[in-house]
Amino acid sequence: MSAMNETEARVQLEGVHVSFGDRAIFRGLDVSFPRGGISVILGGSGCGKSTLLRTIGGLVRPERGSVRIAGEDTTKLAERELFRVRERIGMLFQKGALLDAMSVYDNVALPLREHTRLSERDIAEEVERRLVAVGLPDAARLFPRELSGGMLRRAALARAIVTDPEIVLCDEPFSGLDPINVRRIEKLFTDLNRQLGISLLVTSHHIPSSLRMADQIVFLQDGGAVVGPPKEMRYHDDARVSGFFAAELDADAEPEADFAAEALARHGGQGGEAS
Ligand SMILES: Nc1ncnc2c1ncn2[C@@H]1O[C@H](COP(=O)(O)OP(=O)(O)OP(=O)(O)O)[C@@H](O)[C@H]1O
Ligand SMILES: [Mg+2]
Repeated sequence: MSAMNETEARVQLEGVHVSFGDRAIFRGLDVSFPRGGISVILGGSGCGKSTLLRTIGGLVRPERGSVRIAGEDTTKLAERELFRVRERIGMLFQKGALLDAMSVYDNVALPLREHTRLSERDIAEEVERRLVAVGLPDAARLFPRELSGGMLRRAALARAIVTDPEIVLCDEPFSGLDPINVRRIEKLFTDLNRQLGISLLVTSHHIPSSLRMADQIVFLQDGGAVVGPPKEMRYHDDARVSGFFAAELDADAEPEADFAAEALARHGGQGGEAS
């Protein structure tokens, strides 16, 4: 375990075991997430990234081990007490980001209506402020079906942060986004982190953005985690860790390489068709 103490660690898992049927996902997982930091959770598909966030959010109960949120072990809490802890956590999940039948405004207002006694006027102010923060000042009256993938993600982020959580959990916020929107969400994360001190726990397959924004990378494998700063992880002694980065960076680079070759074919004076 790292030397991080409870005040430094916002979220701390020790000896966590989670399995579904006879399939063990975590076998004694130890990992700490620093207060006010950005942590990116990586690993192969099915290694348990979403399960880790769901465990931290109290949606999956571990069979063994402790999950401390700001020092409090949530595995010991009853469902009603968990609710109180969840209020401090904003969650942005892979699917079902917004409720289809509600406008963006009502979606973002929902946590305030559920968790606070703010007046409608105060709610309006908060919602407006958050929509501006995520770059959607004019989207309040729109419905989810009227938004693009990137706009949906940003609206869901506005909802996740509207109650001023200390911790925000985001499952695959970059999936399916074009490079401009990846950068936009990435910037939102770093802004939220720097300006509001929010601890961000993000799962991702997007390696370049992970390397740019992460304070620490949590690489899940074999039911446990290898943890370190991005540079260290990229050149890690464990070949499976460094190999993951190399393979993913290659995969990410390919479309750009194709694009460059195509541009060259078009503008390079050969007049040849890009294949
Ligand atoms: N509620 C559940 N019931 C049964 N099995 C589950 C459940 N949730 C997850 N699993 C299984 O646990 C494993 C880990 O799933 P998880 O969704 O956490 O992976 P992941 O790392 O997020 O994958 P991806 O990169 O594809 O999102 C998978 O084999 C999945 O099928
Ligand atoms: Mg997942």
